[in-house]
Amino acid sequence: MKNLETKLIKSVRIITNKDDYIADILIEKEKILSIDKNIEINDEIEIINAEGLLAFPGAIDCHTHLENKFGNSITCDTFDTGTKAAAFGGTTTIIDFSFKKNNMNAEQAIENSINIANRKAAVDYSFHLVLTKYDKNTSHEIKQSINELGISSFKMFMAYPAIMADDLSIYNTLKDTGPRGGLVCIHAENGPIIDKVVQELILQGKTQPKYHAIARSSLMEGEATNRVIKISELVDSSLNIFHVSCYEALQSIIKARENNSKVTAETCPHYLYLDDSVYESDDFDVAKYVCSPPIRPKKDQIQLWNALKDNILQIVSTDHCPFMMKEGNLNKFNQKPLGKNDFSKIPNGVPGIESRLLLMYEAVNNNKISLNKFVDLISTTPAKIYGMYPQKGSIEVGSDADIVLFDPNQKFKISSKTHHSNIDYSLYENFEINGKIKSVFLRGNLIVNNDEWVSDNLK
Ligand code: URP
Ligand code: ZN
Ligand code: ZN
Repeated sequence: MKNLETKLIKSVRIITNKDDYIADILIEKEKILSIDKNIEINDEIEIINAEGLLAFPGAIDCHTHLENKFGNSITCDTFDTGTKAAAFGGTTTIIDFSFKKNNMNAEQAIENSINIANRKAAVDYSFHLVLTKYDKNTSHEIKQSINELGISSFKMFMAYPAIMADDLSIYNTLKDTGPRGGLVCIHAENGPIIDKVVQELILQGKTQPKYHAIARSSLMEGEATNRVIKISELVDSSLNIFHVSCYEALQSIIKARENNSKVTAETCPHYLYLDDSVYESDDFDVAKYVCSPPIRPKKDQIQLWNALKDNILQIVSTDHCPFMMKEGNLNKFNQKPLGKNDFSKIPNGVPGIESRLLLMYEAVNNNKISLNKFVDLISTTPAKIYGMYPQKGSIEVGSDADIVLFDPNQKFKISSKTHHSNIDYSLYENFEINGKIKSVFLRGNLIVNNDEWVSDNLK
């Protein structure tokens, strides 16, 4: 009888954010017990021969939207479909969002989110608590989240009228989070100005999805990014800028990092791989690419790649926020087609939970980033910024055995026909990747093997 709690990954090329070497990895009870050349074991232990394969630490996606409600639409991936899709893409931990809906307080919101995820999640997870207007309860809720509920990341939006936080709320929140080791993550766009421009465009009869990108100019992303950075500098609190898409935003982040401010920032694969030519057509198909901030011109894309190399941006997350294109989604309610006659009614967000590791690995093939940097961007730095390192984000003794075995000699084609998310399209349809995920281990348990889900336990 094989000992199921122990396994040996033999002769694998281990890639961390710093190292690149061949060794064996011994896993016991969810953790990495040892890493060495030629580890001796008895024949009760399962051996996985991984010669020729690469081992990466399980990827961490710190920006996903599963079962999130925005306006009248709920993202079409649930915690089970979304986390399974994540796992097929080599992601073993996600950070999603907990909203204080229906007058819930922070404790109820977090408990509710954990209950949903706990029943369904196929990978490990945590949450950002969404905060809007700062009121008499906010200070207590921040303390309680950090000290008692294990949630130290807070999300605030400078756009979207229903959930937007004003500058004073951001200032007050940062004053509470900073001294307690909390982190505020920001959607930085000047919401009020953008909403005015949207109205003006609609009044001029410019209703097609392509006008979404025109309404949300990079100037207004840059302005909001600069403003929130200055507020965070005033109170010396940690700030993370979500989904940076353009040079105007980068300029403020560069300055902040030169000043040693506590500012970090992420971008997403769609800003790195696509450009604003996706908005050229008058067709409704363009709604596939409606996200905020929108996808920018090629010149911004080039600056984003440079910023990754120069450590101006530290994280690549997906901002997976999937809304169906087809009429009548799973629940028979339209999602993207809500905006058929008015682009401002198209739910904002694009999918990508399953393709991030592959796309970023392809950037290694194209000499845009090194293998170590690839691991750093999708796993190690996210783990460090969100307080999970070294339990997650590395392959080292004592870490969780979250491991992706990757075959650099096989090819993979991204397609909505074969992906595992509920979403009915891919931004990267038919993109060819030189390399393929072979196996994924979550805390030592094999969950994906050769394109099959192999764990009967969803959790
Ligand atoms: O368009 C986007 N990004 N939708 C998801 C919500 C957000 O702003 O992160
Ligand atoms: Zn956002
Ligand atoms: Zn988002």
